[in-house]
Amino acid sequence: MKIIDVGLGKRSYPIMVAAGLLSEIGRDLRQRAVAKRYVVIADDRVAGLYGKTLIESLASQGISCELLVFPRGEASKNMTTIARLASSLAQLGVDRKDCLIALGGGVTGDITGFVAAIYMRGIAFVQVPTTLLAQVDSSVGGKTGVDIPEGKNLVGAFYQPRAVYIDSRVLSSLPSEELLNGLAEVIKYGVIYDRDFFDFLDANREQILQLQLPVIEEVIGRCCQIKAAVVAADEKEADLRRILNYGHTLGHAVEAASDFAIAHGMAVAMGMVAANSLAQGKALLSPPEAERISQVIAGFGLPVAIPRELDHNLMKSFLKTDKKAVSGKPFFVLPTRIGQVTITDDVAAELIDQVLGGR
Ligand code: GLY
Repeated sequence: MKIIDVGLGKRSYPIMVAAGLLSEIGRDLRQRAVAKRYVVIADDRVAGLYGKTLIESLASQGISCELLVFPRGEASKNMTTIARLASSLAQLGVDRKDCLIALGGGVTGDITGFVAAIYMRGIAFVQVPTTLLAQVDSSVGGKTGVDIPEGKNLVGAFYQPRAVYIDSRVLSSLPSEELLNGLAEVIKYGVIYDRDFFDFLDANREQILQLQLPVIEEVIGRCCQIKAAVVAADEKEADLRRILNYGHTLGHAVEAASDFAIAHGMAVAMGMVAANSLAQGKALLSPPEAERISQVIAGFGLPVAIPRELDHNLMKSFLKTDKKAVSGKPFFVLPTRIGQVTITDDVAAELIDQVLGGR
């Protein structure tokens, strides 16, 4: 088993990565004595796939556990679900000594973490991510929250889990589009932080796409190490953590302009290539480096070009209202070479226009 520590002083926590870990969670939670009683929160799909294994793992250790289920999908990531879950917790008599378990993808982790942050002013929670995206990104670092009609993730809290349990075997049930969503974030880590890891991804593409176990565990572990290091240095995204947004500023604009028909990972892939074009336009990144990143992204089956039919003005307006923009000025994470980036809001409007395909 790989164990990675997220170093946040008293709020530090381990990320554990192993094949078959789902059945070991009960034993580990008993040893850590996080709580006496647990409530698993999962969507209706993941509850059916993995709820039983997790609950049996806890029951085998004599740990009492309840299961709360919500309808799958981003549409559930709202305040109504939060209110409903909080009521269910109150009806179950859940108190400050109890602990929630987020079993599922990013939506489940964000919802459960946010309920944990605000129910009784904060109770413990652990993450059991079941998608690649959640395993390498959203389950680590304490970003929790929900969408409101005015925008995605506009309400939330930084609230760290007590532990993250990653079972690499559960990825075998993941739809291929979901795998690609995660792979965009995986490639991101190589570009922003670790050239050797980028080379590793390039050299092991087939094994990764086939989810071969030692290789995919290496990938998950390395991504979590990078994320843990970044979060430990800058938990609340004042500075360094912003590098995790490589490809996301333009990617979010693409996602929103497509009315979310383009999935997050696909949009991030296009956003990374578009950010590289900005970097080239500012003479920060050499053409061969940009070309290599595009080749690797495309090699994994991810898109590299923003669809021409997307409304260019709409994308520009989403850039201005991005929640990370300051006074309507977005910032961009731009690579200077593979493994290194710089952050800037100094990008000419004409260059942005050109990269978004303005005509
Ligand atoms: N997904 C970006 C972050 O956690 O900061």
